[in-house]
Amino acid sequence: MAGPAAPTGEGWSSRTAFILAAVGAAVGLGNIWRFPTLAGENGGGAFVLVYISCIILIGLPMVLSEVLIGRHGRSDAFHSVVKVAEDSNVSKNWGIFGGIGILNAFLILTFYSVVAGWVMYYVGVMSVDLVGAIFSGDPFAGALASENPETIPSRMTDLFGNIPLLLGMHTLFMVVSIWIVARGVTDGIEKAATYLMPTFFVLLVLITLYGAFTGEFAKALSFLFTPDFSKLSPAVVNDALGQALFSMSVASAALITYGGYVSRETNLAPTAGMIAFADTGVALLAGLMIFPIVFAVGLDVAAGPTLVFQSLPIAFHNMPAGSLVGLLFFVLIFFAALTSSISLLEGVVAWAMRRFEWGRGFTAWLVGGVIFLIGIACALSLNVWSDIRPLGFIPLFEDKNIFDAIDDLVSKILLPVTAFLTAVFIGWRADKKLVKEETGLEGAMFGLWRFLIAWLAPLAVAMIFVFAVFPNLIGQG
Ligand code: PHE
Repeated sequence: MAGPAAPTGEGWSSRTAFILAAVGAAVGLGNIWRFPTLAGENGGGAFVLVYISCIILIGLPMVLSEVLIGRHGRSDAFHSVVKVAEDSNVSKNWGIFGGIGILNAFLILTFYSVVAGWVMYYVGVMSVDLVGAIFSGDPFAGALASENPETIPSRMTDLFGNIPLLLGMHTLFMVVSIWIVARGVTDGIEKAATYLMPTFFVLLVLITLYGAFTGEFAKALSFLFTPDFSKLSPAVVNDALGQALFSMSVASAALITYGGYVSRETNLAPTAGMIAFADTGVALLAGLMIFPIVFAVGLDVAAGPTLVFQSLPIAFHNMPAGSLVGLLFFVLIFFAALTSSISLLEGVVAWAMRRFEWGRGFTAWLVGGVIFLIGIACALSLNVWSDIRPLGFIPLFEDKNIFDAIDDLVSKILLPVTAFLTAVFIGWRADKKLVKEETGLEGAMFGLWRFLIAWLAPLAVAMIFVFAVFPNLIGQG
């Protein structure tokens, strides 16, 4: 397959293209599926407060650090860190945290694609439903009008029970993601982001307005923004940190890799701010979109990972034009998931292209193929492999199936560790002048950012980790 032997030489065609791609990487299932799930399970307001603090104090400075590493190194997550280390006269071994970031991206995509497959399944279900509604002369009917609310959630159990369907959706999603990445930075990734992200934002605003007018908006506001501190525990704080890192796409190769395609003229600090702002905004909007509907029909906010998939179709069933809005809703999640999955895949592909000097197309299909195969194990852990406990020998993972073990391993352990190392590297080891020039920050702003990345971020991450994860890891929690 044709294509350059290494990613160098590829780049965004404009600053807007970079911003859309980076926002597309950040905004995904993390915002619309994982955030509401965790906020619901952890009691709302207090979790949200910790989450937002982690975004501002840790996530935001991390985004800038990663993009600057990429732009300076002009390569994948591993080689870019090595380059910054070389130019700072410190050990090239720092490249290891870039490498762990690539591993994180690899692992995340294995289960991410499975969940994105559920999204595609619901896009299908809702499309069929809407076509049915239109033909029966009532395009503004509620979703799945002929079913009753008690049986609607069984769509999800049906899907989990149907191996060909479950694997088929996962396959389809991976094929689309690989195809886009194989087309390259400008023709694939950038193009996808420029079409999908603006559409995504229009849909998001429309559905939020719909929720605000038809659902229990006030109740959702108070649930998300009135902190009840009795709900906080070290584990909840760690969940919020892991979610903040996951949602911002930090510590997992994507942003370093995307930073490698940014031109020298682009001012990085405001761009990082925009990514953080858009990501947090979308998570909160997603909460304000989902919880009013959940409250309106009296569903359980703590329903877990199935909250979005199982509960919302019931909500759409009971609401005006639910068939149409339900379809738009799942299309919206699909767009968000796709622009994120391509960033995950690109993080690994960019490295493999360099490391093995393979062409882009070949690398994308090979790497994507391996991720796809491991993803099959994640999908089967919802079905015939539900009893397998791959990390059962570690107390923290005792009762986790393949899917949950990978998710928890990444978000609770590998992401915080990678974030810690990144912050220490940028804050303490990387050449100060090099770093300052890349950020484009001056005076007090640079001082503030440096304080966050050198002191606050590593200390906060280390403390949260030691209090929350370590005791559980060794079974003392
Ligand atoms: N941030 C993405 C989301 O919220 C997931 C992601 C993580 C993408 C890490 C790239 C790197 O869905």
